[in-house]
Amino acid sequence: GNKWLMSLVLTVGVGLLVSACGTGDKPAASGGSSGGGGAAEKVYVVGTDAAYPPFQMMEADKISGHDIDVMNAIAEAAGFKIEWKNTGWDPLFDGLDRGTVDIGISSITIREDRKQKYDFSEPYFEANQLILVPENSPVTKLADLKGKKIGVQAATTGELVVQKAFGNTYEGLKGYDDMPSAIDDFYNGRVDAVVGDDGMIKYYVKKFKDKKFKMIKDDSFEKEYYGIIVKKGNTELLNKINAGLKTIKENGKLQEIYNRYFGNE
Ligand code: ARG
Repeated sequence: GNKWLMSLVLTVGVGLLVSACGTGDKPAASGGSSGGGGAAEKVYVVGTDAAYPPFQMMEADKISGHDIDVMNAIAEAAGFKIEWKNTGWDPLFDGLDRGTVDIGISSITIREDRKQKYDFSEPYFEANQLILVPENSPVTKLADLKGKKIGVQAATTGELVVQKAFGNTYEGLKGYDDMPSAIDDFYNGRVDAVVGDDGMIKYYVKKFKDKKFKMIKDDSFEKEYYGIIVKKGNTELLNKINAGLKTIKENGKLQEIYNRYFGNE
């Protein structure tokens, strides 16, 4: 209840403070001594692209969202400390490679190709792609978008489904660094459609009620599962994350967080 909320506020607050101080190039969790004798407790740096609502977002300068709550709950359940870093999407993976980020949570779909480079936790969320088009659009399936401009976030599964349908060099495909830029271009009519994760697309449909958008699920879209990533071989940390995740699956906390963001669907 209250205690949990307080520690969430504190954790996020401290995390933002730290990332605001420009720790950009310092190795993550370097474990500096904080004085007072005992070894300082390790604080894991969690990277995210806080521009994928309602999973991770910045609201009034505060990082928030489903994945933020999930990761805070996991850390609390497993008894380790974290701080947040809003890295963006591509830099999140670079940060893991370079060691400036220890943990990545960002609606990251568990995929075989990504498993070559990173170790994934057990899944914590089920998703699928959706197509976002204006309500009066004649489009009813992905193939109908042939020849049209499609906005996606670059290097995401949304981009992959479009490439699979229309080829890797499809001219109409516009890859954005972040999802809000794609949504913005769609809102202003610069692209005809956006493809992305269902939870996020539904969020924007609700947000722009006045604009009247509709969502389409194509038969080719496969189930996806989100996982948390660590550097390949960081088994010690991965075990902690999986232990915390197991706890919050069993004690209902994960469901409680789900209901907080998606309960009225
Ligand atoms: N689930 C998709 C993927 O893994 C999109 C994730 C995008 N997340 C974000 N925070 N921008 O490719």
